[in-house]
Amino acid sequence: MRIACPKSVPIRKQKDFMQTQYVHIALDERSYAIAIGVGLLGEAATFGEGAGSAQALVVTNETVAPLYADALVRTLAQRHARVHVLALPDGEAHKRWEILNLIFDALLAHGADRKTTLYALGGGVVGDMTGFAAACYMRGVPFVQVPTTLLAQVDSSVGGKTAINHPQGKNMIGAFYQPLLVVCDLDVLKTLPARELSAGLAEVIKYGPIADMAFFDWVETNMAALRACDAVALAHAVKRSCEIKAAVVGADERETGLRAVLNFGHTFGHAIEAGLGYGQWLHGEAVGAGMVMAAELSCALGLVDAAFVQRLTDLIAAAGLPVRGPVIDAADNAGRYLALMRVDKKAEAGEIRFVVIDGPGRAAVRSVPDELVRSVIDRCCAS
Ligand code: NAD
Ligand code: GLY
Repeated sequence: MRIACPKSVPIRKQKDFMQTQYVHIALDERSYAIAIGVGLLGEAATFGEGAGSAQALVVTNETVAPLYADALVRTLAQRHARVHVLALPDGEAHKRWEILNLIFDALLAHGADRKTTLYALGGGVVGDMTGFAAACYMRGVPFVQVPTTLLAQVDSSVGGKTAINHPQGKNMIGAFYQPLLVVCDLDVLKTLPARELSAGLAEVIKYGPIADMAFFDWVETNMAALRACDAVALAHAVKRSCEIKAAVVGADERETGLRAVLNFGHTFGHAIEAGLGYGQWLHGEAVGAGMVMAAELSCALGLVDAAFVQRLTDLIAAAGLPVRGPVIDAADNAGRYLALMRVDKKAEAGEIRFVVIDGPGRAAVRSVPDELVRSVIDRCCAS
């Protein structure tokens, strides 16, 4: 299926690329804006005019807090009488119940009420956990995403998927819960380690094969600029990625169909993350190798040709990402992948459903015989 994308709406000062641009995500009463620009952490107006709730809690982590929490707190102090900060331990391995509970502990300790606003300042781990906490606390309090990784700016902060992991499966416990606003300040990407930037590029690359081959061409041409953290290139990558994601989520918020295409490469990728232990491979790295496997599967089904698979593989490698999956079980690697993939949220009655590329720029969801999947895993994993 082809995805028609709405135009993004540059609301303010259109003089140059660095002026704040807005992508709108249309979900009736849950609609919101994604602001993309520079210096936004220090710009109170970006977070809304007038006074906000009396209290706010900024949830961040021990790495991001020393870099950006003070700046955000100063800005939010113009909207909220009291702004508290909670820094969680850093890492995918902490995306779990016990750490989630620290957010509830902090909210209760501060006497937070139903109007208290949560701000997620961090990457996808902080964003997913804060969103889930916001969905649960007093059955739902407002929250704002302030994503600080490329991956979070182009994907996880947008669309309202919130979750924690279970040892048996990635993001298995969660809720659909939309933020009020997403603020993507491109400046914060300057402190992002190169490996994390590459991980974010996996999700940028994803949007091409599933929805927009012109964007894929653009990413190919601009890969060096993106890896060099060029602000113009990053601004376009974030904006176009958000436009595509906004169109998909606007059409299928709760993943009854179309939204599954955003999981291209993720079925294999989630198996890698759970199979190796959360945090061993970054999410974006697992998605990178997972997209190669999903493309090989599409080729084996006759949906794309080998040249397409090679082109995608080359782009993933150019982003600094692995293109071969890890061996997660020396005795029966493909069997272990298959067992983990049966826990995937797209699985139905134990049958795994894969996002495949049904011709460049178009994705579909298919069930595939185990033997074919096994042969792809055998071919695509490092020995
Ligand atoms: P992450 O949140 O672990 O952040 C990566 C690392 O970068 C962390 O160590 C973090 O502390 C650090 N960091 C963050 N911002 C920084 C900055 N500006 N400067 C320096 N260091 C910084 O990982 P991620 O890649 O952002 O997110 C991955 C998570 O997102 C996974 O849990 C994945 O499941 C989830 N995800 C969710 C969705 C969704 O739709 N909700 C989509 C994609 C991924
Ligand atoms: N990252 C997949 C989704 O938001 O649906």
